[in-house]
Formats: sequence, structure tokens, C-alpha cells
Amino acid sequence: MRSGHVRLLPDVRGKVNRKTMREQILELEKEALQELEAVSDLSGLDRFRIAYLAKKGRLTALLKDIASLPAEERPEAGKLANSFKRNLTERFEGARRRLLAKEEEPLSSLDITLPGREPARGHLHPITQVMQEICHIFGRMGFRVVKGPNVELDYYNFEALNIPKDHPARDMQDTFYISENVVLRTHTSPMQVRTMEEQPPPVSVIAPGKVYRRDSDITHTPMFHQVEGLLVDKGVTFGDLKGTLTSFVHQMFGLDTALRFRPSFFPFTEPSAEVDIRCVICGGIGCRTCSNTGWLEILGSGMVDPEVYRFVDYDPEVYSGFAFGMGIERVAMLKYGIDDIQLFFRNDIRFLRQF
Ligand code: FA5
Ligand code: MG
Repeated sequence: MRSGHVRLLPDVRGKVNRKTMREQILELEKEALQELEAVSDLSGLDRFRIAYLAKKGRLTALLKDIASLPAEERPEAGKLANSFKRNLTERFEGARRRLLAKEEEPLSSLDITLPGREPARGHLHPITQVMQEICHIFGRMGFRVVKGPNVELDYYNFEALNIPKDHPARDMQDTFYISENVVLRTHTSPMQVRTMEEQPPPVSVIAPGKVYRRDSDITHTPMFHQVEGLLVDKGVTFGDLKGTLTSFVHQMFGLDTALRFRPSFFPFTEPSAEVDIRCVICGGIGCRTCSNTGWLEILGSGMVDPEVYRFVDYDPEVYSGFAFGMGIERVAMLKYGIDDIQLFFRNDIRFLRQF
């Protein structure tokens, strides 16, 4: 980079050619602005400052030269040089701000003493978590997990469970029909029949999954989840049913959780019982979740009706067994003290994050 005086410039013929001050100023301005344009970082900008603006820079030298001009040339040259200086200083500041923003700001906003940002991590839906825990508990008791279709034949959902077409028990479950013989399964009990069709006794399976009913309030949703359980072997009694389900409740909710077996009716079990758990929302004194009964029903159960064995060629004289169907949302509500089943399906991230 040239420095010092610019007044004398050799021309092509090697002769000394005295350019007018005006030409020199305009030439230097053009050169300086071009050079500034090309500066791409702060250290380049500092080199530019030293070359042009500093005490020994070319602009400073030019201004000195003007001072030594004849008096009549001075005003015009001075004006021109001052406008050049203003212009260059302004652009220099602009470039400095731009480069600072580019180079320094990301650094100054980086505070290495701050704790790291926790990466947003998803997790399983609480219903899935509870479903897995239920499967795990029964898995430890020797039950195998099986799965079946959500769109089910009327035969498996009703017929083979001892609920013929005109049977009043069909009204117990308001059904979504796909066609006359195809339904959205209203419970997981069809898996009892499908499993026994496929294998001879002994069987011990659980079948988790979605079920569908035309039903909606604070304890009912049109789609919900059940886990079906089925155990068939020689000499299975109602005592085994009670023991298995009591053990499950104790493992799921703790040893001091009160439960009761309440006589009930299902066409595919005889005798039948529903299992209630002491309402965890109100502690049993009665609230809107438990309809002021102090109890919440979590499952239906019973000894497999001999009529069902007829459909799958099991000999009821040799084998007996029990079955149960549990509402997973109910279990989750009791476990976490949630008073509205709809919360599980609203997908409010603030609710779901808590699990
Ligand atoms: C049945 O679905 C029977 N299949 C259960 C069964 C299986 C009995 C095997 C005997 C042998 P129920 O309709 O009561 O029964 O439903 C069982 C459980 O599902 C209920 O205890 C409840 O916890 C849950 N449940 C029923 N309807 C809903 C609903 N609309 N929303 C949420 N949970 C429900
Ligand atoms: Mg019921």
C-alpha cells in the first residue's frame, strides 16, 4: 500500500506531471472507497484505518498538502477534502458496525457459564406407559401378550361370546357398526375366542388394545383402552381369579389399596364380578368422578362360561378358567389422581408433560 504524499505522480512518459489537487482528492477517494468495500473482517478494517485515517495515513497527508496550497486554491480543495473525509469516516463507521455485528455479537451472546439447554425429549403417552406397566405385571405372573384387530367380526365381538344377534346384552355396549357383520370392537374380549381358537389349553394371555363405544362423559370416551386377560387350565377356580386380580391391584397401586369384588353379569362369564377400587380422588367420601359412591370400577371379570368353550372346542368337563377386561384409562386415572378421562385425549402438552 502506498503512503505519504500523493501530489506528484509520474505519467506514462516518465515525466513528472503535476495533477490538480482536485484530481488527486477524487482519485484517492475512489481508491479508498474501493478498498473499504473489499474489507471483510475487523483486522482488515484496522489495516484500512491505519492506511488512510491514522496520523500517518493517506487522508491525513492529503489534508496537510492542502494546507500548503496557494491561498486561492485552498478553499475549493479544502471543501472537497472535507466532504471526502466526512464520507470516508461515515462509511468506515458503517463498515465497523456491520463487521462487529458479524464477528463480535455471536461471541458476546455466548455465556459459557450458563447451564446447557436441555434437548426437548418426547416420552410415551401416559396411557401407553400404564398399558406397558400392566403388561409387565401380568408378564411376571406368566401371561403372554397377544394382539388382535380393532375392526372385528361380529362373530368374535358378540356371537362366540354368547351374545347372539337379538340378545338384550348387546345394548350394554353401544356399538359402532362398519357393516352388518363387522364392528369396531367394543371390548378386548374377542381375543379370548381368537386365542382359544388358535391353541389348546393351558392358556394364559393378556391382550391390550383400543376399543370403541358410543359413549362420552367424564368417565367415558368413545375410544378407550382395555387389557383382556384369559387363563384356562385344569382346576382353575374363582379363588385363582381373586388372587390374581388382588395381586395385580397391590402391585399397581400399593398394598394398602382397598378393592372389592361386586357381583355382576356378563354373557360370557359365570359367575361374574366387577372390581372396584377405592376412589383416589376423594378417598372414598364421594365425588363427581366416582358418582358419589366412593368406588371406581376398573374391570369386569368372571369364570369363562361353558357356552364359550363350545365355540372353540374346549372341553368344559376338563378345563375351567377365568377372564377379565380392564379399563386402562380408569387405572391411569386412579394411579395419577386424574378426575377427567377426556384429559388423556386432548393432547394438551402441559398435561402430558407431567408423566
Ligand atoms: C367389558 O368390556 C367386558 N368385556 C369385561 C370382561 C372381560 C368381563 C372378560 C368378563 C370377562 P365393561 O363394559 O364393564 O366390560 O368394561 C370393562 C372396563 O372398561 C370397565 O370396568 C371400565 O374400566 C372400562 N370402560 C368401559 N367403558 C368405558 C368408556 N367408555 N371409557 C373408558 N373406560 C371404559
Ligand atoms: Mg362395566
